[in-house]
Amino acid sequence: MATRKKNATAGKRPTRAKAAARGKFIVLDGPDGAGKSTQVQLLSEQLERRGIRFIVLREPGGTTAGEVIRSLLLERREDRLTAVTETFLFEAARAQLMEEVVRPALARGTWVICDRFTLSTLVYQGYAGGVPVKAIEVMSALATGGLKPDCHLVLWVSAETGIRRRASRAADRMESKGKAFLKAVADAYRKLAREKKNRVTFIDAGGLVEDVRRKVWAEVALLVPQRQDGRRT
Ligand SMILES: Nc1ncnc2c1ncn2[C@@H]1O[C@H](COP(=O)(O)OP(=O)(O)OP(=O)(O)O)[C@@H](O)[C@H]1O
Ligand SMILES: [Mg+2]
Repeated sequence: MATRKKNATAGKRPTRAKAAARGKFIVLDGPDGAGKSTQVQLLSEQLERRGIRFIVLREPGGTTAGEVIRSLLLERREDRLTAVTETFLFEAARAQLMEEVVRPALARGTWVICDRFTLSTLVYQGYAGGVPVKAIEVMSALATGGLKPDCHLVLWVSAETGIRRRASRAADRMESKGKAFLKAVADAYRKLAREKKNRVTFIDAGGLVEDVRRKVWAEVALLVPQRQDGRRT
């Protein structure tokens, strides 16, 4: 029978360096062309200046499985995916991302900035796509294991503004669903964010890039540890 060797430290817990504070989970969501990618970039620069460790993710994607799912969902081809199929695919990519990337990053103290999250599924596949909202809420809870962003911002622009801003870019499969769909998307985002359900914050993103950047930072700064002089910026 194998015996375990006792050593001098047996029974004592090893001393460890103080555990890192949990990272913050920030989501920028909103209709097509609202300026999410632009603001994610500006926010990254701001966090970098503050010396905050972070990663930037986009949904769907961020894992090997997630990127395959992303190409299924977004590449323009003739596959006619139903809204229910889309929902399962988005949630599957999300489940993998949470497990493989988001939870471990937050646990080691790294902040996570995510371009789109659960609200996108609720809006695109639910309110605009016709999948029962309650079903999506259950699936999202399963995919995220109940983990909620510390800050979930909706950058809101009207469908017209979004379309105008994106005019020079080729539409992907989700974006090419037509103006009525994009209007339903914009309306749903506004409704959900204004109701302040799902713990989201509405940001009017129709103004100048710099104005939107200030509004975004005003929210995110609340999560940044204060400096000795009390400033967060
Ligand atoms: N506040 C703004 N005013 C005017 N143009 C803007 C503003 N913010 C972003 N843009 C421009 O609008 C276009 C779309 O912006 P961006 O790609 O950041 O939006 P997005 O929300 O990430 O879009 P998508 O949903 O397609 O990923 C870009 O050409 C960008 O330079
Ligand atoms: Mg973008």
